[in-house]
Amino acid sequence: MSLIALGVTGGISAYKSVEICRGLQKRGHDVVAVMTRSATRFVGPLTFEAITHRPVVTSQWTRGANASIEHIALASDIALLLVAPCTADVIGKFAHGIADDFLSSMYLATQAPVLLAPAMNVNMLAHPAVQQNLSTLAGRGVRFVDPDEGYLACGWVGKGRLAEPEVVVAAADALLAPADRASLRGRHIVVTAGPTYEDLDPVRFLGNRSSGRMGFAVAAEARSRGARVTLVAGPTRVDPPVVDTLVRVRGAAEMHAAVMAAAGDADAVVMAAAVADYTPAQTASGKIAKTPGPMTLTLERTRDILADLGALPSRATGVPVLVGFAAETGDPVASGRAKLTRKRVDLIVANDVSRPDAGFDVETNAVTLIAADGDTALPLQAKRGVAVEVLDRVEALVSRHPIAGGV
Ligand code: CTP
Repeated sequence: MSLIALGVTGGISAYKSVEICRGLQKRGHDVVAVMTRSATRFVGPLTFEAITHRPVVTSQWTRGANASIEHIALASDIALLLVAPCTADVIGKFAHGIADDFLSSMYLATQAPVLLAPAMNVNMLAHPAVQQNLSTLAGRGVRFVDPDEGYLACGWVGKGRLAEPEVVVAAADALLAPADRASLRGRHIVVTAGPTYEDLDPVRFLGNRSSGRMGFAVAAEARSRGARVTLVAGPTRVDPPVVDTLVRVRGAAEMHAAVMAAAGDADAVVMAAAVADYTPAQTASGKIAKTPGPMTLTLERTRDILADLGALPSRATGVPVLVGFAAETGDPVASGRAKLTRKRVDLIVANDVSRPDAGFDVETNAVTLIAADGDTALPLQAKRGVAVEVLDRVEALVSRHPIAGGV
């Protein structure tokens, strides 16, 4: 358990800090809220006082306490200074060493890691002054949780919205001493992500709309829990997170080979990739030229990676733990449950990809976790939040087995 100072500054999204505070507490951390004067216009300090069970720092000049030196005491006690939301004004103060309130003084006084979750209007964020301040702070080791793109309170659409609370919480948790949270240390987790491209000829392929974000979120979460992570990723536009081994593949056959090779000493394999079920029977060596009339393609089945993992002899003792994803447009739970049995896996993460806010190429997901002992429907949330829930299940499942790689 670590003491985290949660700085709240004056942005519309200040109300989301309440959820961030709860999320940090849920992960076992102690939180002290430090609010700027303008933050108190958006959320009442009493709200934070009630949930943190600590006095809320709102001013440098509180009477009766040694408030003017309190920022020094608190600054040395905390394991992390998290500011969410962090306005352009506070970013500017931090970058220039201005210490005219408790939060900005504490920033200068603390030696703890600093994590900022900026939130502001899209044009303010893009302004060279703000960008310069952000890069000054990054150069000093300050870490950031990137704002999301979307509808902003000011009516604009663009980048600048505070990242989802669970994303901020996961980033904060990951920055804390790894020793406190290495619940998967010594474990090897293999994660797949993204689409596969099945080549028709040198310029055309059959692909799908998977962005890779869900698998990347699972890989990042596994690594932040101390696991050794092998990420097998199809072609994606989104950058993968930092992992121990990144294997880039293109087609389903290549992904099959990479996963089977990595699975040898894996404690768990999470198949979040959208693997093609069919591939062209032949890949033309030259570009296929058009001919009059329709064209018929002959496709053949790819090998089912998850089913082949489910048939491994070691699965008799439940090793490796297997997690499959089911992308459905019908009833995700019924067909997810069928997949659980057919592919002999421990957990199916089923989602309805016909929803515009879940599944392919969006930041959020609404899934149902399906296991032998029942179903759990999770609310719509950031993919990192879904990854946290999936990893909680994986952690419980792998803890039943000795470490597979014997590390
Ligand atoms: N998968 C796999 N190998 C394949 C195809 C899929 O390992 N060749 C994995 C996916 O990564 C995912 C799970 O299987 O974890 C479910 O994929 P999906 O295509 O939805 O399942 P299918 O069994 O092919 O179901 P359907 O009959 O709906 O096509």
